[in-house]
Amino acid sequence: MSIEAGREKHPAAVPGTDVAAAAQGARPSASDPGEASLRATDLTLGFGQRAILTGVNVEIRRGSVTALIGPTGSGKTTLLRTFNRMNDKVAGYRHSGDVLLDGQSIWHPGVELMALRRKVGMLFQRPNPFPMSIMDNVVAGVKAHRMAGRGELKSIARDRLSEVGLWDAVSERLKDSPFRLSGGQQQLLCLARALAVGPEVLLLDEPTSSLDPIATESIEALIRTLVPALTVVIVTHNLAQARRVADRTIFLNNGRLVEHGETGQMFEDPAEEETARYVSGRFG
Ligand SMILES: Nc1ncnc2c1ncn2[C@@H]1O[C@H](COP(=O)(O)OP(=O)(O)O)[C@@H](O)[C@H]1O
Ligand SMILES: [Mg+2]
Repeated sequence: MSIEAGREKHPAAVPGTDVAAAAQGARPSASDPGEASLRATDLTLGFGQRAILTGVNVEIRRGSVTALIGPTGSGKTTLLRTFNRMNDKVAGYRHSGDVLLDGQSIWHPGVELMALRRKVGMLFQRPNPFPMSIMDNVVAGVKAHRMAGRGELKSIARDRLSEVGLWDAVSERLKDSPFRLSGGQQQLLCLARALAVGPEVLLLDEPTSSLDPIATESIEALIRTLVPALTVVIVTHNLAQARRVADRTIFLNNGRLVEHGETGQMFEDPAEEETARYVSGRFG
């Protein structure tokens, strides 16, 4: 099946950016924005004896950007990595409760890990291009999932690199190693690779923490172009970034989900005193 099947033009591009031009590329359509894409029910996560998060109940809304905030060690990364089962093989990791993707448990025996990771893509704190050419990086997942024939790979690479605003910078060096690209460009390449397999959900773990302000700004603009076609969950320790990019925000602290709500409300009029103390910079 062609990966272009079932895609439609993206409705919401940010005007005046490279990214905007890029975002004219096709994305899968989001059905019913606003309903739950991911849902954690009574989710408890730990390593060995130690509980990291207890009793998390939360819905991640489809077609929106949700920020995960909280002090260092509050379990943001652990929760994020749970959403596509990246922790399953980590020594000592344990969970109880459930995570549903589109209503089905991600641990259901019928769920293939490869298929789950195709639906729920991930970007890490440090860009992790594969040791292969720029072109091969973009289409690595497409090939692994046998989503396209050889003849289509070049145009897929061009479309996805354009979508992330990287095409002009790399079009003459597609056969080169990605490791000579800047950190920001490497992260965009990883994003292009993640987008190439047509995910429903994108998990971003502090994706700009190793980048300069300009690269950070372009990634933030790009994130806004991904919704509502995709659902985005972004871990950030940068509260200003959460305010800029996230529709909704989840605050984790002391082993619990303290509060979840619309981003403006969470920062300006939080329900919990603990949230107020954190978002005003009094701890963390
Ligand atoms: N693989 C692991 N083994 C044991 N403990 C871990 C592991 N990964 C994370 N932790 C612990 O879990 C807690 C939460 O970590 P993490 O989810 O990375 O927090 P955050 O991303 O909010 O900074 C920390 O105390 C950390 O030391
Ligand atoms: Mg982390």
